[in-house]
Order: sequence, then C-alpha cells, then structure tokens
Amino acid sequence: MWLQFFVFFALVWYIQRWLQMKSWNHFKGFGSLTSLPIIGHSYKLNTPFIVERVEELCLRFGSIFRLDIGPFPTVIMSDFDEMREMLRSDAFNGRHFHKLLPWRDVKGVDDYGNLAGVASSSGAAWKEQRRFMQMQLGDLGLRKTDKLVTIIGEEANKMTDIIERSLNNQEVMDFSRFFLPITNNIIWRLLTGKATNIEDPEVKQLSLAVGKVFSTMTPSSKLNIVQMNSSFFYKMCKWVGAENVIDASTPILNMIAEETKAYHSDPKGNYIERNLAEIQAQDGDSHHISHGARGMLHMRGTIFDLFLAGTDTTATLLEWILLYLADRPDLQEKLYSELKDKEQPVTTEDKMDTPLTVAVIEETLRMCPMGSGFGLPHMVTEDTHLAGHFFPKGTHIFPFVKLVHRNPKYFEEPDRFLPERFIDKETGEFKSNKYVVTFSAGKRRCPGEQLARTESYVFLAALIKKFTFHPPQGGKISFDYNTGLALYPKYAKLQVSMR
Ligand code: HEM
Repeated sequence: MWLQFFVFFALVWYIQRWLQMKSWNHFKGFGSLTSLPIIGHSYKLNTPFIVERVEELCLRFGSIFRLDIGPFPTVIMSDFDEMREMLRSDAFNGRHFHKLLPWRDVKGVDDYGNLAGVASSSGAAWKEQRRFMQMQLGDLGLRKTDKLVTIIGEEANKMTDIIERSLNNQEVMDFSRFFLPITNNIIWRLLTGKATNIEDPEVKQLSLAVGKVFSTMTPSSKLNIVQMNSSFFYKMCKWVGAENVIDASTPILNMIAEETKAYHSDPKGNYIERNLAEIQAQDGDSHHISHGARGMLHMRGTIFDLFLAGTDTTATLLEWILLYLADRPDLQEKLYSELKDKEQPVTTEDKMDTPLTVAVIEETLRMCPMGSGFGLPHMVTEDTHLAGHFFPKGTHIFPFVKLVHRNPKYFEEPDRFLPERFIDKETGEFKSNKYVVTFSAGKRRCPGEQLARTESYVFLAALIKKFTFHPPQGGKISFDYNTGLALYPKYAKLQVSMR
C-alpha cells in the first residue's frame, strides 16, 4: 500500500516536473525525461576528467546543447560568436544564485529578494552595486596605476622574502595555494587601506577558507550540487558531520561583519567608509538599494564577492605560470633578459619593453582559463532568441571557453604552450588576440581584470628576477588538474634556486 502510494506520488511529481521543463525540449543534448530532481543531468559528468567530458559532449551535440546542472534547465555554449552575442545581450545577464536556498541563508537576501553583493545578484540591484563598486575601486587604486603598483610591489617583495627564507631549509617548494594570502592581502589593502601580516596563521587560515569556498562552489563538485540545491541535504550533511561546502564562508562573512563595524562614513575614505557614506546619503530614499540595513547587507556581500573572486583566481593563475615556466627553462632565460635591468617593482610602462613576459601571462590565461572548470553561469531573465534558438526565461547558461581557446581556427597548435604566438613577428611587440576570453565579455565582464593583470605581471617579474624554477628531482612537470570554479594544478611542487 505504502509502496503504491510512493510510486504514484513520485510519478505525479515527475510528470509535473517534465511539464515544467518541456519548454527546453527543443535543445539538442539531454532531454527533460532524463533530468533528475536536484541534480538534473549532472550524473552525466561522473568523471574526474570533467573538462574532457564536456568537450566530448560539445563535439557530439554541437555548440549549443542542453545539460542540466542541478535542477535548472541548462545550456552549454562553446562557439565564440554565439558566446559573445550571448554575453553582450541584456536578456542573458542574470544569475540564478537567489534560487539556492542554503546560499540565501548564508549570504543573505534583501527585502526585495535580491541576494547580497554583485557577483550573485541580477537586475537593478546588480547594476547599481556594480556601478558603485567599479567607481570606488577605480578611485582607490584600479585607475591609479602608480598606487596599485606600489601596493602590489610591496606584496611581491614580501613574497620573494618568504621564498628566499624557505630556501635556507629546502630546495623544493610546494606552490599549491601558496599565493592565496598574498592576493587576498592586496584586495584587503584596496578595501581597508590596511596591510595584514601574510604569515600570520589566522590570515593564512582565512585566505585558505576563501580558496576553499571558491574551489568547492562549483558544478563540477557533486557534493556542492546536492547541498546547494537542497536545504534538506545541506542540513543532513551538517547533521551527520559530512563536509559542508558553504561552511567555509561563515568565518569570512563574520570577519567582514566585524571589520565593517570599525569604520565611520567618509566619502573620501577607504572602500568601507565610502560605502557607509553612500548608505547615509540614501537615508531619505527608502527604495534605494543602498538604503539602511539593505545597504549594509549589500556592502558586506560585495566585499565577500571581491574576496572570493579576487583571491583564488589570480593565485591559481600564478601557480600555472610557474608550472609552465618550469617546463621551459629557455623561456625563463628569455624573460630574465627582458627584465633584469628593470627596477623592482616593474611598472605598467615596462610592459612595452617586456612583451614576452606579458605574453606568458596571456598564454597561461588561454591554456588554463577559469571557465574551463565552469566559470560563473549566467541566467536568462526574459524569453529571448539567439543563434536560431528560443531561450526561455530561467535558462541557465554555461559558457565553455576551452573550445574557443583550443580552436585551431583561432590558434595554431592550440594545445601547446607557446607564448611566442602573441608576439608580432614584424614589430616584436605584444599582440593580443580577441579569441582569448578568460575574463568574459559584455556587461558582466570581470571587473578585476586590470588588477589581475597588474598583479600577475609584477609578481612574475619579481619571481623571474630572483629565482629559477625546475621540476623536482629532475622529473617532469605534471599538468594534471583538480576542478573547482577554476582548474587547479594537482601537483605544484617545484625545485627553486636563487639566481
Ligand atoms: C586571473 C584572474 C581572474 C579571472 C580569470 C577572472 C575571471 C572572471 C570571470 C570569467 C567572471 C565571470 C564573468 C561573467 O559572468 O561573464 C568574473 C567575475 C567577477 N570577477 Fe573576476 N577574474 C579574475 C580576477 C578577479 C579579481 C582580481 C577581482 C577583484 C577585483 C575579480 C572580481 C570579479 C567580480 C566582482 C566578478 C563578478 C562580476 C559580476 O557578476 O558583475 N576578479 N571574473
């Protein structure tokens, strides 16, 4: 009797779900019948080689196909022109994070239903906060390259000191997660004007937590999919003591809440003080996104986003750069001859005379883009058409940039690490290529691109001027990866020597 009831109930529920999803049946790929509750088609990605698996599916189904990640109807896009059109269209500019109940609990939702912060919000709330964030960060450093280079240069010196000191005891260093406290400190300095001691165990712990949230909060983690899309499973995991993917966020959010209490409003002060001044300025307009408690919630959410988006990404880029260089000692020598007479820290003007150094960063961004491990998804905010397909409101979109970056139409020998491809044969200057889309495009394009590029340039120059890097014990470099929101080197141990 109970079994019959259960089967009947499950059938009704399944039919209702299928009816809800039938508007997406016209896409190639996997259909509504095989899209399971909570996990959708994620079980089709049941392999550690998730990037290769998605690539295989793109080749099988074409540049636009359906593969539900979690309970949402999801479309994967992998053609450059279609992707660019999608990223530039306002109808594709939403996010779906407000639908994830555990995430709403952790991050907070305002009285209009907007999730706190920039990276996970949509519509007018996103627009307003992104505008404010970009304007203030620009004033505080991103538009003032001298100031930015000074901050990054100081952190680069601390980093080379740490490496030098550790070389007294050992020659092999593990660079896995090594850069996290340093990149995190740069964000912290931009936001508060204060530097932290990056060797302080608490600071290290916090930046590791930032890295942890970033690496687990991804559709390539099954645990993340199940916990994010079901409060029941989220609570169950907590209850039985299983790893909880968003728990790492709590100390970060608590620290931000505590820190923001220490400041008063000042329109010319640090990021937090400027934000408090904006909140005060909106006191008379109770509908404004920065009004009162709503404004405080969004300020903390935005700081959290900057921590998350600005720490792990650049730290991981630096890890990959070192691995590629350790595999090419000839290239290290070429970079050294470009950089050896430059003052420390290098400035952005130096980029003109050091095209190969810039090209190494660009080539690493091409080979190991964050999006290959599934970047931030977009969500369709109104019914719309693109590339001959109908995209209903609520479609979840994942741009899969690996197929653009490894397309032989756009790059010769696309699977080889060849920074020289970005050097103009006639002028010897650095030449960018529009098909490198690691920072995305359109209105949601990464607002930290300039910071990430300046950081990686100043850090790389500091490293090359002082050290050489080789595979440990004369072995070979492994380019195996772990997936998270970025792709992480599985092995990042290198033999380091002083020049
Ligand atoms: C190598 C370093 C980095 C890479 C590869 C990268 C890449 C990306 C990508 C692909 C997105 C998603 C864009 C989209 O949805 O279309 C994004 C968003 C974002 N990034 Fe970055 N990023 C990097 C560094 C940074 C830094 C240093 C910051 C800090 C200032 C930052 C802040 C953000 C924010 C706040 C967003 C959300 C933007 C929005 O939703 O409007 N990123 N980034």
